[in-house]
Amino acid sequence: MPAKTTNEALQGAEAAVPADPAAAADPAAAAGHPAAAADPAVVPAEAVTPLLRGITVLRRLSEADGGTLSLSGLERATGLARSTVDRITATLARMGYVRLDGRDVTLAPRLMELGNAYLAALRLPALLGARADALADELDESVSLAVGDRDGIRFIHQATRRRAMSLSFRIGDLLPAERTAPGPLFATEWTDGDWRHWRARRAADPQDHTFPALPPRRSSSPDEDDEDFARRTARAAADGWALDDQLIEPGLVAVSVPVRDPRTGRIACVANVVSHTSRHTAQGLRDTLLPRLRSAVAEMERELGTAPPAEPGAPPAGLATWTGASKQELGREFIESLARGLTVLTAFGEGRAALTLTEVAKATGLARATARRALITYEHAGLVTAVSGRTFGLTPRVLSLGFPPLSRPSLPLIARPHLAALADRVHESTSLAVLSDTGEEVQYTARVGTTRVMSVNITVGTRLPAHATSLGRVLLADLPEHRRPLSGLRRLTPHTVTDPAALNALLTEVRTQGYALVDEELEEGLRSIAVPVRDRTGRVVAAVNTSMHVTRRTARECVDDLLPELRAAASRIEADLRVAGRFTRVSTT
Ligand code: PHB
Repeated sequence: MPAKTTNEALQGAEAAVPADPAAAADPAAAAGHPAAAADPAVVPAEAVTPLLRGITVLRRLSEADGGTLSLSGLERATGLARSTVDRITATLARMGYVRLDGRDVTLAPRLMELGNAYLAALRLPALLGARADALADELDESVSLAVGDRDGIRFIHQATRRRAMSLSFRIGDLLPAERTAPGPLFATEWTDGDWRHWRARRAADPQDHTFPALPPRRSSSPDEDDEDFARRTARAAADGWALDDQLIEPGLVAVSVPVRDPRTGRIACVANVVSHTSRHTAQGLRDTLLPRLRSAVAEMERELGTAPPAEPGAPPAGLATWTGASKQELGREFIESLARGLTVLTAFGEGRAALTLTEVAKATGLARATARRALITYEHAGLVTAVSGRTFGLTPRVLSLGFPPLSRPSLPLIARPHLAALADRVHESTSLAVLSDTGEEVQYTARVGTTRVMSVNITVGTRLPAHATSLGRVLLADLPEHRRPLSGLRRLTPHTVTDPAALNALLTEVRTQGYALVDEELEEGLRSIAVPVRDRTGRVVAAVNTSMHVTRRTARECVDDLLPELRAAASRIEADLRVAGRFTRVSTT
């Protein structure tokens, strides 16, 4: 039996809300944007227009280079009026989903909570990601996991060993099924409707312009390509595996095996090993790596069969209150219906993959009518689908809301805007640093200067002795005592502490008080104060500091005035790190 549509599932749930006379089609469709071609043309009367527009803004930003567009660029890309773009971006900025930098709008790490909601609900990255990573290590090749997304495939996990020679795809990237190895495997389960949808897409976009992650297709005979896809699908059904012999670009080869859900026998995701013809031909992949991939997949299937049921996490709290307060504060610039609508996506998550309307309303604190209209809007946009008669779930398309450009996060990238805001507030330069491998030095990984001339000339990459800097002290304090490098400490000024026992005692104190203040130990006249930045597990991964001439502030003033600001900045960085690090590895440099 075909799945019910959300609208059917919602029927009788609530008296129909009167049609919004302002409801209009996705403006991208009006502007002739090709990505809108697949969207159903008719917008349901109950769809929330500002929410549809917000989704369009997020999609256009996701497709843009670096996740950034100017406000006028966004106006052109969406076909929306400038005043509308201004209000949408102000609302998204308030939610922490984008950053406004002068005239530029940039996707912000917090937005990853939407994709995280989908990935957590799906559970596959949490259950299978470690096995995919281990296989990549063992083979020294890239390994990825992908799910079917209508007639495309979308990546949900990447263990990348990709050499510089070829494209490498990101979590959330969408590829056309027919140009990949997993595509024919998913197509073995396609319905007639899916094939029709695929043929319509091929006819409407023969060059693959609607796949921003891909270079345009070069082949001059699309019909032949399409026949070939049907043949490859038939072979995949017979073989239980499939190859990609340079369908995406010259040199790129892949072999894929489906991971089946043991309860239903259907394909849960497809595992891929990806290489380059300089290392393996496609046939070579099949002969040498397919057996290993198959046994890894067998382990993945066992994992799926034996995993305990998902523990439902707590739904996000107080969202509706927050949107109300923001409306009070920002007035016209804040579009409450957009903010409320977006919170609906975050109601889903681990152990919360299929929710009823009542559960969505309860989790978000929204009125049932509001939650219902948001669900109708999302179904129209292809982001939510009916799971059973009464429940809804997120689709892989939720990852198109900003996930790919944000999915290779680094700590310096995450920290920079927070360091800049901190420097702005305290009128001092601010820095982020990590510990060198030996623990003897700190290495600066981000820095925001002020115009004031400082005697220490520090740029990103600068290394300084850890024992004599506030950054170093905070980082050393997190190490177990036996791993602290305490011998052979250099005296840099008359004040430098070089006695191992004395330094060890200082580090223990730093650990308890949660900050380090260092006075003229690195350089005379220089005072600095630093706090730790912790990852999801509580480990100190970096330190943030501010430094100044001793005449600017007393040590007491540093603690009273700067420490709270530093702590606030560190916890903002940590909050971003938690969201960004949930399904991706955040590099510390
Ligand atoms: C990838 O993981 O980048 C990948 C997977 C399958 C393909 C091509 C690329 O066919």
